[in-house]
Amino acid sequence: SAVPDLAGRHVVISAGGTREPLDPVRYLGNRSSGKQGYALARTAVARGARTTLIGANTALPDPAGADVLRVGTALELREAVRKAAADADVVVMAAAVADFRPAEYATGKIKKKDGQEPAPLVLVRNPDILAEVSAGRARAGQLVVGFAAETDDVLANGRHKLRRKGCDLLVVNEVGEDKTFGSEENEAVVLGADGSETAVPYGPKEVLADVVWDLVAARLG
Ligand code: C5P
Repeated sequence: SAVPDLAGRHVVISAGGTREPLDPVRYLGNRSSGKQGYALARTAVARGARTTLIGANTALPDPAGADVLRVGTALELREAVRKAAADADVVVMAAAVADFRPAEYATGKIKKKDGQEPAPLVLVRNPDILAEVSAGRARAGQLVVGFAAETDDVLANGRHKLRRKGCDLLVVNEVGEDKTFGSEENEAVVLGADGSETAVPYGPKEVLADVVWDLVAARLG
């Protein structure tokens, strides 16, 4: 079993992907499975943390020993993260959050009409939860960790995103056709606001999770 180096700490992890409803039966969503966030939760529990896992549309077994909350939309996720972060030592945003949501929600199912073009889909921006949590640390010394999926210039884009979001650590994945989404394995570079760069070779999501907790534990002191 793991060294309990997160004992006495409260960690909050978001996982999965948000869904933004168009009407009672349709939504805009993404392919995030939540597996990386769940791996983070299992390993956090194993290292002794009080663990709050906020699952957005995940269909995975609750990690034993974690408090699991469920949300659907980005706005619901924002509220849940805000509340849980109030007394958190660490916030890890592993969820894939929709950048945009439909400007309007139709309370009845949207119908197609013969001979009529579809109405244009109007979207509005969702808040950037990671940037908000980073900017408004609920506690002195609270650590914030983000994730980023990049297809090219992975390190340069990752560095830029780390600064833009204001987080302490950014886990950068290279994504492509069949990489990462829904798979059991991951490959990443963890960038630190202190300039550190930790490469994690292709392997189980638990291994990447433990590297993240190693870096977090070192920074919590
Ligand atoms: O900007 P991008 O979506 O690539 O950033 C990914 C990171 O930001 C992830 O940690 C994700 O959870 C977080 N994010 C967020 N709120 C958004 C969009 C992304 O917290 N609206």
